[in-house]
Amino acid sequence: MPVANITGAASGIGLALSRQFTEQGWNVTLADVDVLGGQRAAEELSDQTFFHKTDVLNWDDVASLYKKTVEKFGRIDYVAANAGVADFQSLYEKNDGEPQKPNLRTIDIGLNGQIYCLYLAAHYFRQNGWNGGTIVFTSSNAGLYKLPTNPQYAAAKYGIIGLVRSVAPVFQKENIRVNCICPAFVPTGLEPQFLLKVMPSDHLTPMSNIMRAFDNCAKDSGLVGQVAECSQGNIFYREQVEY
Ligand SMILES: NC(=O)c1ccc[n+]([C@@H]2O[C@H](COP(=O)([O-])OP(=O)(O)OC[C@H]3O[C@@H](n4cnc5c(N)ncnc54)[C@H](O)[C@@H]3O)[C@@H](O)[C@H]2O)c1
Repeated sequence: MPVANITGAASGIGLALSRQFTEQGWNVTLADVDVLGGQRAAEELSDQTFFHKTDVLNWDDVASLYKKTVEKFGRIDYVAANAGVADFQSLYEKNDGEPQKPNLRTIDIGLNGQIYCLYLAAHYFRQNGWNGGTIVFTSSNAGLYKLPTNPQYAAAKYGIIGLVRSVAPVFQKENIRVNCICPAFVPTGLEPQFLLKVMPSDHLTPMSNIMRAFDNCAKDSGLVGQVAECSQGNIFYREQVEY
């Protein structure tokens, strides 16, 4: 049975993906900082899952997540590096006194923590020999367009796209496939409730389309270094700009 490691799995996209994989018979490790939500989700899904408390910006947590997954299931085939958070601090705030060090936690989680996931995924995929493995990052539409309300979030998501396009051709030589998906507005806990109330329903991207994009990455070995923009019912594979 294939094995998946999913971060940010206690809610939203990560939880939906954990459900999709367990329904397909996969073994899944759900990783999240939310212990209660993560444990509840793992118990509800199936005995093919377990929960590992993981803060993706903590190297020891992430290393332990991968190690425990291999101890329990014997291997890792698919990683969804999915955890992400909105900006904690406004970059536009004005200080009367001495400026204080800004809170860059959004970058630490949304980019640096994802690099830990990639580094460890490559290590454990190599143990599968030529079968390799697949890692899919959850970037965002905010990695393709501007998002003035959350510039740190946008910077992290742009960073993921640069990371994916840069490493994918190199890891491909070891049959390690690296891709990312860029969801538009999906109704989850991440999105502000007031926006969900005023957003016309046909402007939303259904969770089923996001799941389809993750599934494509699992099943289509031709997808390498792809940036899959998921908007409403569509998936657009976006190319880098011309040199
Ligand atoms: N919902 C959208 O419209 C949308 C659009 C584009 C991209 N995304 C991206 O999708 C991913 C999933 O978001 P979602 O919409 O499901 O939101 P969500 O808030 O429902 O889920 C995010 C999960 O990540 C977890 N998390 C937060 N910080 C963490 C950390 N340091 N370590 C481990 N887990 C952590 C949270 O506890 C939560 O369970 C994020 O990367 C987000 O940026 C979402």
